[in-house]
This record gives sequence, structure tokens and C-alpha cells, in this order.
Amino acid sequence: MDESQGRVTKDGIRIYNTTSDFDGIRRACQVTAQILDEVAQHVQPGISTMDLENFIRTRVEELGTTSATIGYRGYQHASCISINHVVCHGIPGDKKLKDGDILNIDITVILDGWYGDSSRMYVAGALPRKAERLIQVTYDSLMLGIEAVKPGNTFGDIGHAIQRYVEANRMSVVRDFCGHGVGRVFHAPPNVLHYGREGSGAVLEEGMIFTIEPMVNLGRPDTKVLADDWTAVTRDKSLSAQFEHCVGVTADGCEIFTTSPSKRFHPTWR
Ligand code: MF3
Ligand code: CO
Ligand code: CO
Repeated sequence: MDESQGRVTKDGIRIYNTTSDFDGIRRACQVTAQILDEVAQHVQPGISTMDLENFIRTRVEELGTTSATIGYRGYQHASCISINHVVCHGIPGDKKLKDGDILNIDITVILDGWYGDSSRMYVAGALPRKAERLIQVTYDSLMLGIEAVKPGNTFGDIGHAIQRYVEANRMSVVRDFCGHGVGRVFHAPPNVLHYGREGSGAVLEEGMIFTIEPMVNLGRPDTKVLADDWTAVTRDKSLSAQFEHCVGVTADGCEIFTTSPSKRFHPTWR
């Protein structure tokens, strides 16, 4: 990274150029969003998560990008696919999807040195009522968090907006994983918590780029990581959902870089 370009705040958060840099991250994020759109048609009962991984890996290459997750801390795949009570970092494998399974697919591509990171929920077959409610609350909590993104607000304002809404709906926010600064690196300061107090944390400034990626459980917030050292699950085996957008702070709010080109960000939008 060229340290002469741009500025870093006292909290260690990089300030990007809202014209040229935002153009770079937007293009990476739109490839990510396109692949997340395309994979939707393959999500159905009987398909394995490795089949979905293979489709994603092929499209990452065909679109002239590289996967940020292959080789990241020893991770071997271009996607994380997290089914039902898996909270995040599910590893693709031979397990086949069943009717009513809900899953999060999370991918990060690199284009011209910019990292595009996003995830969404999908459903195999018919969406069960309880899962539908969980997915809707998780999606709405992400969008409420995004509404709090503007210069002068704090990261605590984002977390507070998410937590208040999720808990008002008698669900829980996962504490063990968070969003992050992103841009010309995959994971950078700050940690973007999905819970918190209003007015706490670093102050948002125009030019910051970060993800918001709340994980919401129907039961308790507690998670554990399986023996494969990646797969995080709910301790009480309750269903979990997650959506992830990458945003950039503008003069009067924010731009969402990972919007869906075909408006398929939510599994019930067809
Ligand atoms: N994409 C994830 C995130 O939102 C990180 C996945 S790292 C991996 O930050 F190695 F598990 F792929
Ligand atoms: Co992320
Ligand atoms: Co991600």
C-alpha cells in the first residue's frame, strides 16, 4: 500500500478518496454482487455446497478477479457457506442442501487491488416461517445500521441501531464476530461491532470504507468454533442469519458498494 496516499485517523482508520478510490472499491464490490446474484439460481435442494463453491470459483476467474479467501490464514475456498445453525465461516463440502435449509454465502474478490466483501442469505426450496422472520429481522437490522452511517455519527451508533432492533424482536446479536475496515486490504481497523452504546467508539468521517455484517440468532448469542478451526455455530443450535454490505462514508451519508445489480440481495426478492 502506498502510505503517501490518503490519511489515517488517530483510531487507525484509513480515509480514502471519495472519487477515485470509491470508484475502485465500487467496481470490485459490483463483481462480488454479480456473483452473489448469479449463484442464486443454483441454490436448491440436492445441490452440495461444494457445487456452489465450484460455480463461484469459476465465475471469480472468468470475471477477471481473484479470491481474497483462498490462502487467507490457510482457508482453501472462494466462499464461506453457512447453513442453518452455522453462524459464519462454513467450509464448502459434499453435504447436500435439503428443502427448507437457509444459508449465507460470503465471498470476497480482489479487483485491481480492491477488496469487494459481501454476503447474503439464500433458501433451498420453501422458506420456513421462523427462518423467514429471522432473515427479515437480520436484513432490516443491517439497513438500520447503514442508516446510521454519516459523518459525525459514531461506530457505536451503528452497533446500537442494530442491537436495539434485533433485541426488540426477541432475537440476539452475535458478539464474537464483527465487521471491519476494508479497501486495499481485506481486514483493517476498525472492528465494526453490531452492538453498542450511542455515541461510543470512533467518529465516522467522509472517506471511510468498512463492512457491516450482523449475525443474528433466534436463540442465545453464544457461538463456538468446530474442530476444523473455521466453522462457527450457535452453541444452542438455534438458527442464525447474516447479511453483509460494504459501505463508504460520503459528505451526507453513505454509498452502499455491494448493491445487487438484479435486486436479488434478499432471498424473497424475485
Ligand atoms: N468474508 C469474511 C468477512 O466478512 C471473511 C472470511 S475469511 C475466510 O470478513 F477465510 F473464512 F474466508
Ligand atoms: Co467482511
Ligand atoms: Co464477508
